[in-house]
Amino acid sequence: MAFRFRPPSNALLFGLVAGWSALLVSCVITQRSILMPPQIAGATFVGSDSCVKCHANITSGFHDATHARLELKGDDGKPKNVSCESCHGGGSLHVRAGTRETILNPKVSPDTCLQCHPNTRAEFNLPHTHPVLSGKIACTHCHDPHQGEALKDGGARALVAQTNATCAKCHPAQSGHHTFAHEAMREGCVSCHSPHGSVNDKMLKARGNALCYQCHFQNQTADTAIIHGGVNHAGNVIRGTCWSAGCHEAVHGSNVNSSLRY
Ligand code: HEC
Ligand code: HEC
Ligand code: HEC
Ligand code: HEC
Ligand code: HEC
Ligand code: HEC
Ligand code: HEC
Repeated sequence: MAFRFRPPSNALLFGLVAGWSALLVSCVITQRSILMPPQIAGATFVGSDSCVKCHANITSGFHDATHARLELKGDDGKPKNVSCESCHGGGSLHVRAGTRETILNPKVSPDTCLQCHPNTRAEFNLPHTHPVLSGKIACTHCHDPHQGEALKDGGARALVAQTNATCAKCHPAQSGHHTFAHEAMREGCVSCHSPHGSVNDKMLKARGNALCYQCHFQNQTADTAIIHGGVNHAGNVIRGTCWSAGCHEAVHGSNVNSSLRY
């Protein structure tokens, strides 16, 4: 049994088969995800409306959340919104009892999220990652499950400066104000770092100088000239990368040098 993602309405439809036991057998591979909600023994899905009475603090901000439109087909054949339960498991026992034991709370565990986001799991299995699978930090440090775009602070599609603010909470040194800021920071930390993980050291998006050439094209004006930032780099003997060869160590910004040295 699986949720099915319907691209046009951004809703999930849980369809056809009754009972959750067939979960693994019939998981639907959607355009982007295999979607598997958690299960609670003996509980059925009652719909997000039934959570409002006791959790108004959470439901009030939920309507425009990324995960607010997950549906399954109810007994009457009509789609029913089961968004809350898609992360917390079927709520029928819990709405009656109101006890912790009757509902799931993923807390800092990434497991629930990863069941529906298998591509993300693959990223966290790369050699250099944020320590999420080891439980040191959680998906919810960067993604809010209960309100707004799941990409916290607006995320990828909104102001990148705000995504940087999410990173800044734990990495103030790289995010802080610099007298000579590297303009790359305006496009965000994610212009150079893959936030989940990467094959490259420091979770860099590209290896070596290719990282910098994303934006600083190798401008060959004459056969012999290699121009970066208006400066001819031809003839420079580089041992290492643009930032490790003793030239632009201050990739995040510098307080002393406009060419991002030191
Ligand atoms: C009749 C009131 C009531 C309804 C309806 C209700 N809850 Fe709860 N819920 C509670 C109470 C009370 C607690 C806290 C229990 C405690 O502190 O021991 C709680 C706790 C929780 C927790 C935290 C569990 C934990 O281990 O920390 C989650 C998650 C949760 N509810 C989800 C839901 C969802 C999803 C729905 C709708 C399907 C829902 N609740 C409907 C009363 C309710
Ligand atoms: C995308 C997954 C997801 C969805 C959808 C979701 N939650 Fe949660 N919820 C979580 C996670 C993860 C936590 C644990 C957060 C933490 O501890 O940092 C949580 C925690 C909670 C808690 C415990 C809060 C506390 O302070 O201990 C309650 C209650 C709760 N959710 C209710 C709801 C209700 C009601 C809905 C629907 C309106 C909902 N959730 C939708 C993932 C989700
Ligand atoms: C029941 C399945 C399900 C669960 C559980 C789930 N998600 Fe999602 N999530 C989706 C669907 C469906 C979408 C929207 C369509 C898509 O991007 O595949 C989505 C979208 C997202 C997005 C936005 C993606 C984008 O491209 O804009 C983020 C971020 C996200 N989820 C993170 C989480 C996190 C963190 C958790 C756990 C707290 C979680 N999800 C749990 C199904 C789920
Ligand atoms: C350190 C912060 C951070 C953590 C921890 C994190 N994410 Fe993300 N995630 C991001 C950022 C930033 C983006 C936007 C990436 C971009 O714009 O290139 C993103 C994007 C996504 C997307 C959209 C699709 C994609 O890959 O671009 C999904 C889905 C997602 N994250 C799920 C998760 C899940 C599930 C977890 C936990 C297992 C998690 N994330 C942990 C920061 C984080
Ligand atoms: C909740 C805290 C937290 C948030 C938020 C966070 N990080 Fe991290 N970050 C960590 C931890 C913990 C490590 C691992 C440090 C270690 O292992 O020494 C880390 C490691 C890194 C590293 C690799 C450092 C190394 O030595 O290999 C980079 C790069 C990084 N984070 C970038 C980011 C970016 C970009 C964002 C925003 C999308 C972000 N972080 C958000 C906690 C966080
Ligand atoms: C122009 C590309 C670029 C951008 C943008 C960028 N970084 Fe980096 N970052 C790097 C490079 C290159 C390194 C490796 C530096 C080294 O090995 O000395 C690095 C290293 C790091 C480290 C590891 C530091 C250490 O000493 O091990 C962290 C943490 C980090 N960056 C966080 C961030 C955060 C947070 C942002 C956004 C505010 C960000 N970066 C934006 C290129 C960038
Ligand atoms: C996301 C795009 C982007 C990336 C990636 C990027 N830069 Fe930049 N960088 C800029 C922009 C924009 C400027 C300001 C305009 C200019 O000088 O070209 C700049 C300016 C600079 C300057 C200052 C030039 C001067 O003297 O005025 C240096 C040095 C620099 N970058 C080095 C690097 C290095 C080293 C890397 C790789 C670690 C890198 N950049 C990656 C966008 C980027």
